[in-house]
Amino acid sequence: MQDVACLVLAAGQGTRMKSKKLKPLHPVAGRPMVEHVVRTVRAAGVPRVVVVVGYQAEEVKACLGTAVEYVTQHEQLGTGHAVLVTREVLADFAGDVLVLYGDTPLITPETLVALVGAHQAQEAAATVLTAELENPTGYGRILRDPQGQLAGIVEEADASDAERAIREVNTGLYCFSAPALFPALERLSPGNRQGEYYLPDVIKVFLGLGRRVAAVRAPDPLAVLGVNTRRQLAEVQSRLRWRILEALMDDGVTVMDPATTFVDWGVRIGRDTVLHPFTVVEGRSEVGAGCVIGPGAHLIDARLHDGVQVRHSVVAQSELEEGVTVGPFSHVRPGSRLARGARVGNFAEIKNSSLGAGSKVPHHSYVGDTTMGAGVNFGAGAVVVNYDGRHKHRTRIGDRAFIGCNANLVAPVEVGEGAFVAAGSTVTRDVPAEALGIARARQENKPGWARRRAREPGPPTGRSPATSPARPGGQEGNPESGSKG
Ligand code: UD1
Ligand code: CA
Repeated sequence: MQDVACLVLAAGQGTRMKSKKLKPLHPVAGRPMVEHVVRTVRAAGVPRVVVVVGYQAEEVKACLGTAVEYVTQHEQLGTGHAVLVTREVLADFAGDVLVLYGDTPLITPETLVALVGAHQAQEAAATVLTAELENPTGYGRILRDPQGQLAGIVEEADASDAERAIREVNTGLYCFSAPALFPALERLSPGNRQGEYYLPDVIKVFLGLGRRVAAVRAPDPLAVLGVNTRRQLAEVQSRLRWRILEALMDDGVTVMDPATTFVDWGVRIGRDTVLHPFTVVEGRSEVGAGCVIGPGAHLIDARLHDGVQVRHSVVAQSELEEGVTVGPFSHVRPGSRLARGARVGNFAEIKNSSLGAGSKVPHHSYVGDTTMGAGVNFGAGAVVVNYDGRHKHRTRIGDRAFIGCNANLVAPVEVGEGAFVAAGSTVTRDVPAEALGIARARQENKPGWARRRAREPGPPTGRSPATSPARPGGQEGNPESGSKG
């Protein structure tokens, strides 16, 4: 595609979306529509891409970066005007210009290659890509003369009933010869229902000037669906989702239930990985081979090595090495790294922490801002107290340490290698390597307490001993728990 430049129009807000967000910035399969368009243009081998921005220009630039050029359309006067504002940057360009809209995210490189190929083969001044749609509502309709030659394009708002019945539509993808394009655009007028400079009107201008125009049909009509409404956004989402899942299946991934599986564009998943129902894999996630993901897994920018299992759990911006298992019902939050064979069981939260190889956090724990060595056992209900209400502090746990159930490790604190923390301890000072740290009240037993209580005149059953007027043994204190169930 040498000597081809591409314009992507992304300046118009898109009022039919009823959104604060610029339409081309609405994501489809995790990426803004305009990003899909630009990536496809690049994949087709077009060397030069110029994006027309206006409304929310800064957001578009942040999304597309510096690999493309930008031209600002200060007032959105229509698609014809949006192309006209690029005249200066393309002044010396004598090749062909592809024009695409930023709201057609399903286009494929093959579509673009077919369009440019037909344009060049027919030596046309302008070539329009058309598609035959079941439901042409909202699109401009293709007008052909009795010989079947392209005669013009009429927008739906300006169309007669007979014209609206036409099912061949303007896809909004065009190829123009650059030197012919700009003089023709100057002749557009906004004398239509919407008071805009319509790019499709340039076809009539070319015909009036006696230039050759061509219309080619899109090889895949579904690849050129445009998004004007939220309903169309949903339709395009679902088509792209299937396309992504089919490509994964072709590459050796098992998708148990495509209807409930959502994988963002660009996510990589290795062979023999199984995606169970209700699984969402988002953003820049990467999943290795032989993993078991779901049911009910949600991965966001997660990096999973081979053989990882994540069930009914959320993993965000974290790395899970080979053989790690997470879940059911756990949350691995950003900045975490779980080394080879580490296990996070149920109802655990891991945040900004590393777990060494083979370490286990099996049940009901919080581990935050912690560096945990290898082979650690972090008992049920144990938590890291990482926040003093103002600042977060780090905790270090050495290799093979054993943290008893329901312990609190009050950060900053360090538990040395091979050390033990007794169950129920609130640890506020470092525990040296190989030591046992106990930090809890010593247990006291009252022999015969229950028998003495039974002999004394007590309250009617159902009243708790704590509120009982006559307590056995006087000063001996309350049982730790008087409640049932
Ligand atoms: C357009 C075509 C229609 C075609 C359809 C295909 C026109 C007048 N009509 O209609 O024939 O069937 O696309 O999807 O072109 N934009 C700007 N600046 C503007 C106006 C729009 O950059 O001043 C951008 C928008 O951000 C959008 C694209 O151009 O990405 C298309 O605009 P939109 O309003 O969606 O055109 P349609 O009504 O869909
Ligand atoms: Ca559109």
